[in-house]
Amino acid sequence: MENKRESWGSKTGFILAAAGSAIGLGNIWKFPYIAGENGGASFIIVYLICIAVIGLPVLIAEILIGRTTQRDPVGAFRKLSNSKFWASVGGMGIVGGFLILSFYAVIAGWALGYIVEALKGSFFNFTEPTSSANYFNDLVGNIFWNLGYFILFMLITAVIVWAGIRKGIERGSKIMMPILFFLLIILMIRGLTLEGAENGMKFLWDPDWSKIGPQSVLIALGHAFFTLSLGMGAMLTYGSYMSKKTSVPNSALQIVFLDTLIALIAGIAIFTSVFAVGLDPAAGPGLIFHTLPSVFIKMPGGYIFSILFFVLLTIAALTSSISLLQVVVSYFVDERGWQRHRAVIVLALVISILGIPSALSFNVLADFKIFGLNFFAFVDFIASNILLPLGGLLISIFVAWVWGFDKALVNLREGAEKLFDNNPWVIKFWKIFLRFFAPVLIFLVLLHSIGILDKIINMFS
Ligand code: PFF
Repeated sequence: MENKRESWGSKTGFILAAAGSAIGLGNIWKFPYIAGENGGASFIIVYLICIAVIGLPVLIAEILIGRTTQRDPVGAFRKLSNSKFWASVGGMGIVGGFLILSFYAVIAGWALGYIVEALKGSFFNFTEPTSSANYFNDLVGNIFWNLGYFILFMLITAVIVWAGIRKGIERGSKIMMPILFFLLIILMIRGLTLEGAENGMKFLWDPDWSKIGPQSVLIALGHAFFTLSLGMGAMLTYGSYMSKKTSVPNSALQIVFLDTLIALIAGIAIFTSVFAVGLDPAAGPGLIFHTLPSVFIKMPGGYIFSILFFVLLTIAALTSSISLLQVVVSYFVDERGWQRHRAVIVLALVISILGIPSALSFNVLADFKIFGLNFFAFVDFIASNILLPLGGLLISIFVAWVWGFDKALVNLREGAEKLFDNNPWVIKFWKIFLRFFAPVLIFLVLLHSIGILDKIINMFS
């Protein structure tokens, strides 16, 4: 079963693919709007601290587990612990992969559909400030539009994963990531050269600490997980195709650097534009779909920039969705002995079916509520707010207390000998963060997600 496992063709290929997984809708859709809602600069500083103190240590742990075992998440935990409980923690990641992709592809489908709208010049028909939001609501209210682009996006994801690790995911990332960087830089320059751009920069870089409370700290930490693709074995799976000669800490650092850089550049591109035309930075999840089209129509060259923006968004979503599908595929190939192509077709189909109620949550199923949430929001909540932090918590506990640092460090040293010999303090920090900070802080995020913490905070305020 193990003889012909795939692997990355090069270190750069791995870094670009893993950065591709991390950089996605989370950076370009979610980060700007949560930063906008939580006060801009001060929130960004808290977010950066969360990334460094929790995100990086957990990312190193995930990649290391994958590289050491060369297995899918279930096989990896089983191999290191020989325990059914820990294997089921890997299983939780597989379930997370199914769930996240099923709703992620719905939003990605909107991005794809918006490329077509941008090409048609639809935004230029808007006459009133509310037209853009109404237009968006009409589109997502249309079953065929919503389902059609969702299925199309799933199909493109499946084709890339079908082609394999090197020929599909690695090659796709090597082509798409440079395009993504290039487009984003163009959009940032466009934003910065608009009149009034400095107000957007002020919003991003001038901290207003009065806006930061326990709630926004927890949101920042939760987002650190989502944006780095942590907590469900995506990075573990990518790490499992990695060579032992490649340094895990260095790779993790590069992935974190790229992910953060892109989030910040996306923030600059979006807020300079939003402020330049005097729109509300706290518009919420609709920020890029409602607000940006009205920004584009007021901006010189807006037609071209609107197309570039939605192409960029679709590419970012695609390099993440392939990692989600790959997690699920790797389990069925490694553990169930399925043939890869069959796994891709069957699983993409299952996820497409699972995603239908999410896609219909904006039209025919709009009134169908589970715990007060529509189906889409419910799946998003369970996966992003419960499964990911829980996965992250268990992964840090696993490395720190079950697998044990001694064994983990022997494996971590491979490929990172220079770092171990020259800067041993880095490793000490990793241990401290993983053993204490990560579990405690993630536990708080989890409580917050379940709403318990909110009640406690309200009791004291
Ligand atoms: N990191 C991706 C983003 O920021 O859009 C989302 C994601 C991908 C989360 C893969 C989890 C995952 F396993």
